[in-house]
Amino acid sequence: MTVTMTSAMKITKLSPHIGAEVTGIDLRQPIDAETRRRLNEAVVENIALVVRDQHFDAPQFLAAASLFGEPSEQDPNKRRYSVSEAPLVRVVSSRHTDKNGNRVKPGARWHTDHTNMEVPPKYTILYALELPESGGNTNVANTRAGYESLPEDLKKRIDGMQTVNVYVASVAKHHDTDREAIQATIKPKPILQPLVRTNPDNGTKAIYFHPNKTENIVGMDPEASQALLDELVERLLQPQFIYSHKWRKGDMFLWDNRSSLHKASFDYDPAQHRMHYRVHIKGERAI
Ligand SMILES: [Fe+2]
Repeated sequence: MTVTMTSAMKITKLSPHIGAEVTGIDLRQPIDAETRRRLNEAVVENIALVVRDQHFDAPQFLAAASLFGEPSEQDPNKRRYSVSEAPLVRVVSSRHTDKNGNRVKPGARWHTDHTNMEVPPKYTILYALELPESGGNTNVANTRAGYESLPEDLKKRIDGMQTVNVYVASVAKHHDTDREAIQATIKPKPILQPLVRTNPDNGTKAIYFHPNKTENIVGMDPEASQALLDELVERLLQPQFIYSHKWRKGDMFLWDNRSSLHKASFDYDPAQHRMHYRVHIKGERAI
């Protein structure tokens, strides 16, 4: 008989529009199908989900992440950050540097992950290893509610628009010499993504883009494209649509990339270390 320890699991909404907290479950233990279904439903519905009080090494984290789907390869140009005993797990650290020895600040702008991939990850999952004493939140914005709140004429204007995604856009606001060098070498093919994406799990539409990877919107020049993305961010950033996750040790935190934008806060003392494990869950071609 399979013994499960999942009966005490509780899922609590953190706000009306975004975020839910899961308590009373240890994801190292066997999880039954119904509990797994509830967890997956909670991510799609609430967009951001924190599972409290976990105790993982990298393989255990990978196994827990697999409850949400199939872990997928992350940026192939950053395999050096893979954990050797579980290569699909990457380390994200505030101490990572570029080739010039400067600290990098990935994810400082509102974005969704890996739009330059033909099949971008549906979920991003983080597990806290080291945290600054204060600050360093991960912020997630509900772009489904954001889209729904737009005026009808703007919705009509952007429905059907497509972004042209590259490894690093020529108009990216954060200069990234490593990415520029990689792009010049591998010359990846541009990938089209819908600016308004439909989540196949519930049929809802949401704004979907990565500003540092959008070279342009089809039919628009790069500057005008960025101006439109900036305008959308401005409209989407209504406080009630944002969940700012204040990390606790033991938190496993994930979000649905198909219906949200996210960004990391770099507001903490740089002498303090912020480090996470990260797993991506395989998605589907965006429509
Ligand atoms: Fe990200």
